[in-house]
Amino acid sequence: MLGRVRPAGAVVLIETAFAKVNLALHVRRRRGDGYHDIESLFVFVDSGDVLRAELRDDGVLALSIDGPFAAGLDDGPENLVLRAANSLKLYAWPTPALANTDWGAQFGANLYLTKNLPVASGIGGGSADAAAALRLLNRLWRCGLDDAALCAIGETLGSDIPACVISRTLRVEGRGEALAPLDLPRLAGTPILLINPGIPLGTAPVFKGWDQHDRGTLDSSSLAAIIDSGRNDLEAPARALVPEIGAVLDTLDAQPGVLLSRMSGSGATCFALFRSGADIDAAHQAIRRAYPDWWAMRGTLR
Ligand code: C5P
Repeated sequence: MLGRVRPAGAVVLIETAFAKVNLALHVRRRRGDGYHDIESLFVFVDSGDVLRAELRDDGVLALSIDGPFAAGLDDGPENLVLRAANSLKLYAWPTPALANTDWGAQFGANLYLTKNLPVASGIGGGSADAAAALRLLNRLWRCGLDDAALCAIGETLGSDIPACVISRTLRVEGRGEALAPLDLPRLAGTPILLINPGIPLGTAPVFKGWDQHDRGTLDSSSLAAIIDSGRNDLEAPARALVPEIGAVLDTLDAQPGVLLSRMSGSGATCFALFRSGADIDAAHQAIRRAYPDWWAMRGTLR
């Protein structure tokens, strides 16, 4: 348990761990190392989990978690936030000898994570938290690392973490490490509704259920192409494990003013992009009334 009393003058910084959404996710092949090569269009919602960090000068890293999805989360060294923090420290001060110099050993932090996003739900979650930790501690500790270095650290911890470090619209390939920024007109500011049926779903079993049929490349040249010819190849294996995903997608499809509805990542969260704020308000209210047990979050794309 962390002390709640903040020392006077302690430096505190805040980062949002933006929710990640795959507007399309094409799985191209299973690789020899067990991962899959993908082609995906990653976008980010303007809200998510929140991470605060308070500088400690004794080298200790400690994490405490609150918020609607904190229950059952491990706040020990296996949490991706602490793994990211330790990896950043090792990268910035690579040898124990250096780490024990004045400007190495002193770098610690009290980290406070507010978990607003459902866990194991296909919208980043732990990856976004780890990426936020890298951005935050890079600032707090004045490491001076650029995005490429933070992405390289992130890649060692999870496939989606490099994209979450950037948290801007990206075309993503490889197992998640090959990033190309995309500026798709009319995407930023689009209202998005996220719905999760309340059933956690691990990434590995969903990839394992992919039928190994390559359905072709992703055309990410325009939003229209992503809507018309994009897909999420993980939807079928995810639906086989969590049939409620079908009900979520049917419900989103039936709302007036929907531009695109699809599952994100390996599920079970599904999303819909809407034409207008009025349309998304109406859909949000209608779905909350009809399905009070589902998790629903509305936001806008960054
Ligand atoms: O990289 P990360 O640890 O988040 O991946 C979790 C699991 O998801 C991997 O162990 C692998 O089974 C699967 N995966 C995959 N191909 C990817 C990303 C993840 O098969 N591109």
